[in-house]
Amino acid sequence: MCFLQQMEFPPRQELFDFHGVSMTQYVTSTWERVQTFKARPDDILIVTYPKAGTTWVSYILDLLYFGQTSPERLTSIPIYDRVPFLEFSHLPMHSGVEQAENLSISPRIIKTHLPVQFIPKSFWEQNCKIFYVARNAKDNVVSYFHFDRMLMIQPDPGDWNSYLKRFMEGKVLFGSWYDHVNGWWKKKQTYSNLHYMFYEDMTEDTEGEIDKLCSFLGLSPSVEEKKQIRGEVHFDSMKKNNMANYSSFPTMDFKISKFMRKGKVGDWKNHFTVAQNEEFDEDYKNKMKDPTLQFRTEI
Ligand code: A3P
Repeated sequence: MCFLQQMEFPPRQELFDFHGVSMTQYVTSTWERVQTFKARPDDILIVTYPKAGTTWVSYILDLLYFGQTSPERLTSIPIYDRVPFLEFSHLPMHSGVEQAENLSISPRIIKTHLPVQFIPKSFWEQNCKIFYVARNAKDNVVSYFHFDRMLMIQPDPGDWNSYLKRFMEGKVLFGSWYDHVNGWWKKKQTYSNLHYMFYEDMTEDTEGEIDKLCSFLGLSPSVEEKKQIRGEVHFDSMKKNNMANYSSFPTMDFKISKFMRKGKVGDWKNHFTVAQNEEFDEDYKNKMKDPTLQFRTEI
């Protein structure tokens, strides 16, 4: 990379402990405003541990609500502006809170990567509908590693082996994957407006998962509309679509890796060594004790 290209990117941020979770400044600098955010009853919140399929579900929801009524959105507004990232704040971009507050559409669709204990209380008070998307830990860590390499404001990922260790220790942005998926799974037992989905199910049966999502929302799109949405949210379509593939997002170096990278279940097999896999599985057993929460690492 030449000197000028390097100059385009801001310095990578440092991780620090924030109320027991590893965070960076770009997700904590507007903390007060995030915590006092005023949710509306019809707001829809998409929650994920990073790289679990946030953009995929964001795109589906945006199409379901606005694909027919505001088709101009599809060609003019990138998904990261349609669906604000609540806790994000990095100049010169608008903060996620500002973006969400400025949305003039209804419902507002908002995304967050916050663990359950950090969700602004107004979302619970307003009984907002929440989607949680989870992805198996092995594919999740691989995707996160490549993302951290290419998003130049992320903490330096280092090499794969050390990254994998840090992921297992929860020393990556948004902390422990294990705590995240378990915390939200537990929440499902007491908060009925939470729809917990899996990336692997979405991959295996996108149509079926869109049907479930629609019934949770009380939407009944026509057969034609559903077919159209199914086509537009296919990995290959989203990868080509400049409004979905983050190609215009600053601070990403697409020469290192793509945002729409592979979109597969099982890519971890191309990254984990046998020894890494054994160590990971052993550690996983100790951390994932709830037999009702099961992930698939292949389909
Ligand atoms: P990979 O890095 O494994 O390819 P997020 O949106 O939460 O950041 O997640 C990004 C991951 O979801 C990336 O995974 C990306 O390729 C994948 N993804 C995005 N859109 C997808 C789609 N339509 N179908 C399958 N995977 C998709």
